[in-house]
Amino acid sequence: MRRLDQLLANLGYCSRRGARDLAAAGVVTVRGEVADDCAAKVEAADVRVDGEPLDHPDGLLLLLHKPTGLVCSHDEREGPNVYSLLPERWRRRNPGVTSVGRLDKETSGLLLLTDQSALVHRLTSPKHKVPKVYRATVDRDLTPEFGPRFASGTLLLEGETAPCAPAELSVLSPREAELTLTEGKYHQVRRMFAAGGATVLTLHRARFGHLALGDLPAGAWRELPLDTLG
Ligand code: URA
Repeated sequence: MRRLDQLLANLGYCSRRGARDLAAAGVVTVRGEVADDCAAKVEAADVRVDGEPLDHPDGLLLLLHKPTGLVCSHDEREGPNVYSLLPERWRRRNPGVTSVGRLDKETSGLLLLTDQSALVHRLTSPKHKVPKVYRATVDRDLTPEFGPRFASGTLLLEGETAPCAPAELSVLSPREAELTLTEGKYHQVRRMFAAGGATVLTLHRARFGHLALGDLPAGAWRELPLDTLG
């Protein structure tokens, strides 16, 4: 049970004060009765706004096809962000919706977004070794040394104290490859190729664990059940 005003505010319907105005407008009902006491403790499932059940009262998990050009940071100073693709109400939720790990501004592909902080923690922890598949194009032909170097578990990137965990490289054409990582160091894919003398020109995340984008277009998202990732 939660206070009605807090529930509505946390789900992004209004501010806590604004809940009073919503209730005064007669659009909020609790078990079919127009709500007049915003401090009342209620079950989310009993509440309707404009006759509609509450919007994802138990949490949100979204699979987004991130386009290039958007950052994963909430800090507006860093430029347009992926959250701008979501409905206003979801952007006002508290706890807020955040990304599970980050993709660089110029990286496209599969990005999970959620308001479940425990899920973010679990899925980004290197302990859990969730495989992530990246497709990269590079500025020179990939020599045979890249694969064994990435797989060795000894590749130490500048500024890091621990080497990269073994990663699998699958070369698709002389300048294009898929790389599977089980961790997520800062700019890891770009830095791994750079360590071998190649600059990444385009980078796309195709898979996260068992999840793939399918035919989801860039900029679009779909909802996933909260228990999708176990
Ligand atoms: N590695 C990178 O270099 N960039 C990303 O966005 C993700 C992984």
